Amino acid sequence: MSSGDVAGVSLGNPLFERAAPDNPEQLIFLDTTLRDGEQSPGVALSTEDKLAIAGQLARLRVDVIEAGFPYSSPGDFAAVRAIAEQVEGPVIAGLSRCFEADVRATADALRPAARARIHVFIGTSPIHREGQLRMTQAQVYERAVSMTRLARSLCDDVEFSPMDASRTEPEYLADVVSGCIEAGAATINLPDTVGYATPEEWRQLIDWLYQRVPALGGVTLSVHCHNDLGLATANSLASIRSGARQVETCVNGIGERAGNASLEEVAMAVKLHPEVYGVAAQLDHSQLYRTSRMVSQLTGMLVQANKAVVGANAFAHHSGIHQDGMLKDRRTFEIMEPGEVGAGSTLVLGKLSGRHALRERLAQLGYRLDDEELKRAFVRFKDLADRKREVTDRDLEAIVSDQRQEGAEAFHLEHLQVSCGTSLRPTATVRVLLPEGQSREAVAIGDGPIDASFRAIDSLIQIEGELEEFAVQAITAGIDAVGEVTVRLRHEGRISSGHGADTDIIVAAAKAYVHALNRVIAAQGTAPRVAPERMGTERVGTELAR
Ligand code: KIV
Ligand code: ZN
Repeated sequence: MSSGDVAGVSLGNPLFERAAPDNPEQLIFLDTTLRDGEQSPGVALSTEDKLAIAGQLARLRVDVIEAGFPYSSPGDFAAVRAIAEQVEGPVIAGLSRCFEADVRATADALRPAARARIHVFIGTSPIHREGQLRMTQAQVYERAVSMTRLARSLCDDVEFSPMDASRTEPEYLADVVSGCIEAGAATINLPDTVGYATPEEWRQLIDWLYQRVPALGGVTLSVHCHNDLGLATANSLASIRSGARQVETCVNGIGERAGNASLEEVAMAVKLHPEVYGVAAQLDHSQLYRTSRMVSQLTGMLVQANKAVVGANAFAHHSGIHQDGMLKDRRTFEIMEPGEVGAGSTLVLGKLSGRHALRERLAQLGYRLDDEELKRAFVRFKDLADRKREVTDRDLEAIVSDQRQEGAEAFHLEHLQVSCGTSLRPTATVRVLLPEGQSREAVAIGDGPIDASFRAIDSLIQIEGELEEFAVQAITAGIDAVGEVTVRLRHEGRISSGHGADTDIIVAAAKAYVHALNRVIAAQGTAPRVAPERMGTERVGTELAR
């Protein structure tokens, strides 16, 4: 069917005549959410979070997962090792500076992976060489080539990145690229590290490099575009037209500063325009929305409502003319269907659904729960189904993510009761369960019900944190929607995010706060400081003011 076939399912432009190629070349997606994405200010993922995201990236069928930067910290090393051990399917890559100890640590962390890649990089631009590395052109060249060679001796698959390629002298860039290809790099990645390139210039540089370095034709050319000018997706797509066959992306476009090229945007642009890009990815696009939600929940980085492909409004049609068009023919105002990226809110289960149906649906969504986990999820599901007529996939995701969160908690929210109203001072009673199994309770008054709940929790678990961000979103539509709260706490200079979901928004807020505090405690690696128990009572007191 041609891209202009209106009677069929095609949503393309009827004026566009070029046919899609019969045998599109493969476009490799290297996802760096766990490495560059984790470099987003305020994001700190635990090994469990990283494993969950890596598992989801495997379900999305990205080709390469850049799992971390093993030499940068013992935590990063452990996370890369765990992903290399446990995540099957994609190639697992680790980033390494051009130092022998870095390269060896990366090879070590990646050892258990069925397919591993060492990604070595060094700054090549004048400002990086002189301003940061204090090295000459010749020294940077020598280091790049020798460390690529070392990496190649330790791993069959090596990628080399001349950092800040877009601001590097082209002739020198060509020399470094040639040297690293000769030293064994099978992928040459050009980073637009500071998001300075424009699509036209970037293409010119790539076209010129292909001419100047014939050996580039024998390896995979990759691009890694940052979004400082909002051009990361455009630059990545332009590079594909000039021959790049790997793109480095992050889910939701997160990453250093303004972020990286957004995986979902590049993926859908390429999918919808085979006639322009002539490539195909092996992604399962129906996993895009779920991946986006998981990354947003675990990083605490909210997705803006108008974000392309995965934003809450991406498929919402507001104006009368648009709604009218949509009712008559979806293609009038929709270039892709929500279901194509997994954003359709499918009604799945109800009050009468049994445990078997729950297990089946969760498995279809990619969650494999053991019997004990399923038992607990079923109790939550029944509770939700009693309160809510329709239980959707989004609700099930919230149940599982809540449950998994609890498994890793140092203390747990056992009970929350709030009274508030037009003539009442908002008062919250909170009971938490501590690691040794005792419960502690506190009562607090606040400016509002959420403030009162947070104060009551604070009076029990004593962590000097500053609430930096508090955001509420509805996961599902309707009056009985599950609400989702994200909080970001600053504690001793480090940000921890928390996430909670519930049909009651105050309960969701308290869960999110408890989640963030638990992450602070986990990062500290020590037991939580709990307020001393009061004589003769289980309650620790009434906090009237913070
Ligand atoms: O932006 C960048 O240059 C990078 C490299 C390490 C690939 O992230
Ligand atoms: Zn980067």
